[in-house]
Amino acid sequence: MAVHIGSQLTDLTPYRHAFERVAALVGTLRDRGLAIDRVDLGGGLGISYKDEVPPSLGAYAALVREIVAPTGCRIMIEPGRALVGNAGILVSRVIYRKEGQGRTFLIVDAAMNDLVRPTLYDAWHTILSVSQPAADAAVEPVDVVGPVCETGDTFAVQRPLPPLQDGDLLVFTGAGAYGAVMASSYNTRPLVPEVLVDGKNFAVVRKRPTFDEMMRAESIPSWLATGSRPHS
Ligand SMILES: Cc1ncc(COP(=O)(O)O)c(C=O)c1O
Repeated sequence: MAVHIGSQLTDLTPYRHAFERVAALVGTLRDRGLAIDRVDLGGGLGISYKDEVPPSLGAYAALVREIVAPTGCRIMIEPGRALVGNAGILVSRVIYRKEGQGRTFLIVDAAMNDLVRPTLYDAWHTILSVSQPAADAAVEPVDVVGPVCETGDTFAVQRPLPPLQDGDLLVFTGAGAYGAVMASSYNTRPLVPEVLVDGKNFAVVRKRPTFDEMMRAESIPSWLATGSRPHS
């Protein structure tokens, strides 16, 4: 039996309700002669992107132990975001700082195709400057946008950030889950390389594809190839 009740849950109450129903259903099905020996409780445990306070893994485990363990079933869980969400960041460079009328834009070299969550569902990703701003640096509200010609290519609106200039590096935190895996090569933008960091060690574990590699995946059908006759 398997259940998955949602994602980015920051409250254990829905889990309590779901697990109680799972445990009850295990009992009902066994009463009807079915051998239920495994339950899969899905994923969904939330993480902190901004100021959310997700339940601790210990509290989640205690709930599983309290409600599901008494069934005697083998228990599986499928946490995704809780394992990798805050293990990944997206690093980007400011291409151009544009002083608009009453509004400043930071155009960065990452775009909605690299991290789609903000435009897809208004998700918040904390943005940090890679170089440590001076302790007394003024904070100013800026719109952080990508370079793609799409209204939705916006990471943050009026976000208070330390002064950032062309060429500065910044970081989007919480990009480890639903980041690279939801990326696309829209606008023929090669997927960003993935770098695994472990203490002082780092290695590119997925390189940025070249344009040649991207183009090689495409082909022209025989009937459109140069010199071929149009279809009658
Ligand atoms: C069946 C199932 N299991 C696990 C997950 C992972 O969810 P999460 O990353 O929120 O833990 C999902 C994602 O929606 C899912 O559909």
